[in-house]
Amino acid sequence: MNDLLSLIALPAFWSGNEPSQIILIVLDALLGMLNLDFVYARLESPGEAASVELLRMSESWRLKLPAPEICSVLRIWFQDEAEKPFSPVRKRLWDEDISVIPVPLGINGGMGTIVAASERASFPEQTESLLLSVAANQATVGLHEARLLTAQKQLAMDLDRRVAERTVEVATTNQELRREIVERALVEARLRHEEQEVKQKEEALAKARSELAKMVQITSLGVLTASIAHEINQPLSGIVTNASTCLRMLSADPPNIDGARETVRRTIRDGNRAADVITRLRALYSKKEPSPEFMDLNEAAREVTALSMSELQRSTVVLREELEDDLPSVFGDRVQLQQVIFNLLRNAADAMRTVEDRPRELTLRTRRDGENRVQLSVKDAGVGITPQAAEKIFDAFYTTKSDGMGIGLSVSRSIIEAHQGRLWATANDGPGCTFWFAIPCNPQALADGEPGLKQADSSADAA
Ligand SMILES: Nc1ncnc2c1ncn2[C@@H]1O[C@H](COP(=O)(O)OP(=O)(O)OP(=O)(O)O)[C@@H](O)[C@H]1O
Ligand SMILES: [Mg+2]
Repeated sequence: MNDLLSLIALPAFWSGNEPSQIILIVLDALLGMLNLDFVYARLESPGEAASVELLRMSESWRLKLPAPEICSVLRIWFQDEAEKPFSPVRKRLWDEDISVIPVPLGINGGMGTIVAASERASFPEQTESLLLSVAANQATVGLHEARLLTAQKQLAMDLDRRVAERTVEVATTNQELRREIVERALVEARLRHEEQEVKQKEEALAKARSELAKMVQITSLGVLTASIAHEINQPLSGIVTNASTCLRMLSADPPNIDGARETVRRTIRDGNRAADVITRLRALYSKKEPSPEFMDLNEAAREVTALSMSELQRSTVVLREELEDDLPSVFGDRVQLQQVIFNLLRNAADAMRTVEDRPRELTLRTRRDGENRVQLSVKDAGVGITPQAAEKIFDAFYTTKSDGMGIGLSVSRSIIEAHQGRLWATANDGPGCTFWFAIPCNPQALADGEPGLKQADSSADAA
């Protein structure tokens, strides 16, 4: 009974051990418990071709035969014995008769075999068989658990290995991501820097255009100075003459009241004329922001010709105005469009300066074209434009004049394009050439795509 209890308690000693150690514990227990001469075990490992052999011997048998020899004899004896459990046999080994009994481990000895041997002829007695059977069962359960444990450990190791591999992969990916983030930040910084540079260049360009446009105005003003002086001088001398006449009439005896009243009226009229000239000049050259509005192009053109009249007369230019009645209004910046007209008139007059053999005729014409646009043309009888020059006249700084800057036409073209229009030149059938511009007059079309009006200065692309 004690032996049985000892066998049942064995698992407490081998928990967590390897299969071979479990079997050694069982073999030691059986050797002592059953007073055996030797006890042998062969362990089969799943998936492994070679089996493990273990042997425990009594002191006396240890001196009789070396362990490897006993193992090889038992191997031959019990090759198939596992299929016939608990069949004790009497064998002869080293001049000794011994009783040996194979006990299978697991179903049909699938896990191995234990072979117990004793010189006693009565071996195994009934209790001994029982103890052997219990020991084999305990060993089988232990082996099974050990195998499960080994499989579990293997699984845990596999898991650990896979986790480690995955961790390395994740770390690598993280590193790549971090590198990409750094690269991206660098690219963004470079883009921001480039954006800043573009912005600075745009600002510099806008500034340059602004200065250029200012120069156009100043140049135009210089040329206008003479005509302004003339325009204002006329009403001023009229005022002085009328005022003296009025004084004379009032000092007469009796005073000529009606005459004086008339001269005062004329004085007022001349004063108004001078004021008109100033108003028109201020409208043209005050530094205003572009302010697009629906406007009458005929009226704008008339204001420019009124201001240019003295200059034209001095250059003996004959101006003909053919302004179409009921011209639809256009949506645009009055001052900018007047700058364009003024430059066209000046260029035409300049082109006729050397003409002596024919009238210096200049025709300013407006009309509505077939594409719902208003067209303005300035035709002269000047020197004309050669085909080579025709390609360059709209370039900034192209000029053939000693006092010209060559930016009038380039700025004009920018202004007209900002009004969604077109500015171009054609040769006349006869002498001279004609400059044209056309801008849309359809309010709906303009409402759909507001003209990209910019300040005259900022639209001078060509400059
Ligand atoms: N009506 C014209 N007939 C012949 N040539 C012309 C005519 N208009 C312009 N040109 C030529 O085109 C050139 C450029 O004209 P643009 O108005 O751009 O500059 P500019 O008149 O020379 O100087 P500014 O900058 O003072 O206007 C002129 O110098 C001239 O050679
Ligand atoms: Mg010009």
